[in-house]
Amino acid sequence: MKSEHVPSGIPGLDELLGGGYPRGRVILVTGGPGSGKTIMAMQFLIDGVERFDERGVFVSLEESRFHLLNEMQNFGWDLEKYEKKNQLAIVDASPLRQIGSSIKQEEAVHLREDSKNSSVHIRGPEFSIQALSTVIRSYVRVTRATRIVVDPMTSLALQFPDEQNRRAAIIDLLDSLVSMGTTSIVTSEIGPSFGGGITTREIPPEEYLCHGVIVLHNSHFAGRGVVSALEIEKMRECKHDRQLHPYSITEKGVTVYAERFLG
Ligand SMILES: Nc1ncnc2c1ncn2[C@@H]1O[C@H](COP(=O)(O)OP(=O)(O)OP(=O)(O)O)[C@@H](O)[C@H]1O
Ligand SMILES: [Mg+2]
Repeated sequence: MKSEHVPSGIPGLDELLGGGYPRGRVILVTGGPGSGKTIMAMQFLIDGVERFDERGVFVSLEESRFHLLNEMQNFGWDLEKYEKKNQLAIVDASPLRQIGSSIKQEEAVHLREDSKNSSVHIRGPEFSIQALSTVIRSYVRVTRATRIVVDPMTSLALQFPDEQNRRAAIIDLLDSLVSMGTTSIVTSEIGPSFGGGITTREIPPEEYLCHGVIVLHNSHFAGRGVVSALEIEKMRECKHDRQLHPYSITEKGVTVYAERFLG
């Protein structure tokens, strides 16, 4: 029987999570610009491929495939190599952001399987979640993926100015991810925090709706510049640590440190 936890791929994090992410669930990684969300999410997929023979689908809603490949090369991750072996699929879904326009699915993604339903018309926000789910599902089927990343879901959420519609859209996306039986990471953006280390901010609906939430805080401290600390805000089914812990981004990706962050 498979373990109920899936290793995160982030050195230092599994110990704080009580083993890893809860299998089959959706985890939100949220943080400010450049806080390491994309790297952390990709690290989860790469670790799955390299150590567990688990395949992954990375859905990029903002960065183009070209930029993603380049950025990730800095960490020694040869994404194209894994793509060729069908261990990883990168879905360049950035055109899906252009809500209100009508696009062809093959312009947004490079589907490798049958093209029966290859034309997806996006005329309103409600269609975009459906279109995205369809695209993700077909990639999961083709690669037999057990891990998915959607980065960042903010792009989609912003298309729904009405709070209720936004909530419904997020629920649709999360339900769809859970129904695929995969363990998923979605990312979202938060503004920078100033002062006391713990961000004072309005909690967006995705933080209530996801099964787990990891916050990457980047706070300005007088005389110390920006200090980075990770917090496991919630993780259903896990007996997790609740303290702030320093983290860094190095040429190996994100690492979390065991000591407590005391501000
Ligand atoms: N080779 C490297 N070594 C150390 N740090 C790096 C390296 N490459 C990038 N970084 C750091 O990682 C940050 C980018 O990480 P990432 O793209 O994961 O952030 P993000 O939270 O996804 O940002 P955004 O909100 O813009 O999407 C850079 O701002 C830089 O600080
Ligand atoms: Mg990013």
